[in-house]
Amino acid sequence: MSMLSDTSINLPVSTREELVALLNTRVGLLTDLFAQAKLAHWNVRGPHFIAYHELFDGIAERILQAQNLMAERSAMLGGLAGQTIQEVVASTSLDQWPKATRADHEVIQLVGQRLAQVANLIRADIDRAAQLGDADTADLFTEVSRQLDKDLWFIEAHYTV
Ligand SMILES: [Fe+2]
Repeated sequence: MSMLSDTSINLPVSTREELVALLNTRVGLLTDLFAQAKLAHWNVRGPHFIAYHELFDGIAERILQAQNLMAERSAMLGGLAGQTIQEVVASTSLDQWPKATRADHEVIQLVGQRLAQVANLIRADIDRAAQLGDADTADLFTEVSRQLDKDLWFIEAHYTV
């Protein structure tokens, strides 16, 4: 028996189950990415402190907005939305944030690496949702992917040319 709630959304249960699982995995991944962006926000030091401190906070805020959109899509598909912290720890594909690294030029590269990992995963999710016949979830992943790409540009544009 499915864990999904009933809904009049006319996608097959098996499709909704896969979409809910995918969305929830990404919701959990964004919990980790958010926490890492805040650690960067709090701990960064160096000549670029104020620019990076503010940039990382804006990125963290947009991560939470994206996470909320994805969790609510999971709920509307009938899912138990989101992940517990314990589920996040078990499932995240990001490396642990190295708290001892504080130099601005290193911290921004670390944030960029993590953001790129997530952006590239969610870019692939656009195609998976489309294959499953859910243009709405594909559109949501597209919106989130575009935002992550924009934040990645904000990061990468700080790298020395
Ligand atoms: Fe702050």
